[in-house]
Amino acid sequence: MNSISIEQLPIGIFDSGVGGLTVYRALHDRLPNERFIYLGDTARVPYGTKSLATVERYAIENSQFLASRGIKMLVVACNTASALALPKIREKIGLDVVGVIGPGGRKAVELTKGDLHARIGVIATEATVASNAYFEAIRRASDTAEVLQSGCPLFVPLAEENWVNEPETFSIAAKYLARMKEFAPDALVLGCTHYPILREVIQRTVGENVMLVDSGEATAEEVARLLMDKGLQNPIEHIGKRTLCDDLDHFYVTDAADRFARVAERFLGTKPSKLEAIEVYGIDELRKS
Ligand code: DGL
Repeated sequence: MNSISIEQLPIGIFDSGVGGLTVYRALHDRLPNERFIYLGDTARVPYGTKSLATVERYAIENSQFLASRGIKMLVVACNTASALALPKIREKIGLDVVGVIGPGGRKAVELTKGDLHARIGVIATEATVASNAYFEAIRRASDTAEVLQSGCPLFVPLAEENWVNEPETFSIAAKYLARMKEFAPDALVLGCTHYPILREVIQRTVGENVMLVDSGEATAEEVARLLMDKGLQNPIEHIGKRTLCDDLDHFYVTDAADRFARVAERFLGTKPSKLEAIEVYGIDELRKS
């Protein structure tokens, strides 16, 4: 058993699949000294159309798996799991847990600060919209901002297909975002892991004057602050030596590792050097036995 200090442990990240790699990239860019363990629950994706009880169960199993690998902090990259399961995850895991909803909502309010009548739009999966989690996060930071939420489920497969410039993607975006455009938000939260991949399409559809908020980037800022406040920054110097997906980071999936690697290459321009397929079901029972 090697005895490394808690500061040297990696940060755990989980998502329902490959989309959370946008959050991994934001964390990697913001925290070049940290190592990451990423779990994509590719066997059970999508979460965005599932019920609260199911998303909670999956999220807890994923969190327990990552905790069993030895992590110092957990980032729930999946917006749907953050929206639905954060309290249950915190109850089960004796670690700091950071979701993407709070940071994304707070960032939108921060960007529109000073405007009492700020208008904030949120686009996300059906389950995230139905949970009202973004609305509540924005409300906690501003009593007065007007909020409009909208589900854009087809953006997930379009991003995975890398249809970032196709006319079909623009026409789907125009249809989904018609009400949003009318609402004329000052800021629009990209409340789903995949949406930053379609950033340009979304920006062109809602108008160049709308400030887009990438929840993953906002989360990376909060994780950086939390690590500093808690004195948990990794003291081992990696800055300047890291590249995305290098062998200091470890990737796990629950199914279809080859597809994950292909889509990872589309999203990040590189494949994970350490990628393993595992099972997370009943991990807690396994640990007890
Ligand atoms: N990762 C999910 C999210 O951010 C999108 C994909 C899914 O529905 O599982 O909400």
